[in-house]
Amino acid sequence: MKSIGIGKSHSKIILMGEHSVVYGFPAIALPLKNIEVTCQLTPADQPLKMTIADPLVTAIFAALEYLEIPQAQVQYKITSSVPQRRGMGSSAAVAIAAIRSVFDYYDKPLDNQTLEMLVNQAEIIAHTNPSGLDAKTCLSDEAIKFIRNIGFSTLEVDLDAYLVIADTGIHGHTREAVEKVEAQEEKALPLLHGLGQLADAFEEAMADKNLERMGQAMNHAHDLLDELGVSSLQANHLVQVARDHQALGAKMSGGGLGGCIIALVETKEEAEHVAQQLEKEGALNTWIENL
Ligand code: PMV
Repeated sequence: MKSIGIGKSHSKIILMGEHSVVYGFPAIALPLKNIEVTCQLTPADQPLKMTIADPLVTAIFAALEYLEIPQAQVQYKITSSVPQRRGMGSSAAVAIAAIRSVFDYYDKPLDNQTLEMLVNQAEIIAHTNPSGLDAKTCLSDEAIKFIRNIGFSTLEVDLDAYLVIADTGIHGHTREAVEKVEAQEEKALPLLHGLGQLADAFEEAMADKNLERMGQAMNHAHDLLDELGVSSLQANHLVQVARDHQALGAKMSGGGLGGCIIALVETKEEAEHVAQQLEKEGALNTWIENL
């Protein structure tokens, strides 16, 4: 056992296919490698208390149980630049960092398959019925196309374009949003199907480096997500602001009912301008990613 265990992970953003991915349609997501989470595990005087509904503690417990030391006397400290509950994968990123810190502390090897299995155990607490997209993207260094229970492939992203991410400042409610979609039963199916087709269209447009078509697919996806009832007034407002200021497309991202929006723009100057306008119009924070 070491005196300190360290685990790291990074954030992610869903480009296309949130919600429909839960139902087996494809999704496309991007790791945000510069937005990191670190977990430090150190000795404590007593065993860690299990807090139901806390995905971080659940992740640490899942790791301790896997190592057959559930009574371990440890404490954790998270340092994170991932805003919590904003659809940037904080629960998956924090779970990955936490599990890595446990294995590091006990100096045990950890393969990616075991890590992903343990992360998804913790994600069940955060999301009830996670598709596995968040965990997979936070574990990847490249953009991915993900289909639940089928697998994923990495995607080449080599565009002359920028993605602006803006935080509405409101906690996303992924679990509630997933339940809201589920409660609509077959009424939601055409919308989910449409979202899946748009993820495919977006992927094709990205391969063709056609920014206009990518932006159109994003705009259309946002409208379908809004129709599903998982957007929010703030996200709709910021999406409109981005569209009014040269964005080729804009949409909410992640579970919704709060959280972040993303906007596609062509140049760095446009990205900075859109980010500035979004902050002026209420975004708590913005990030710019070169695609
Ligand atoms: O809110 P986030 O970024 O954790 O994304 C949730 C994505 C959903 O498709 C709504 C749920 C899932 O499990 O994939």
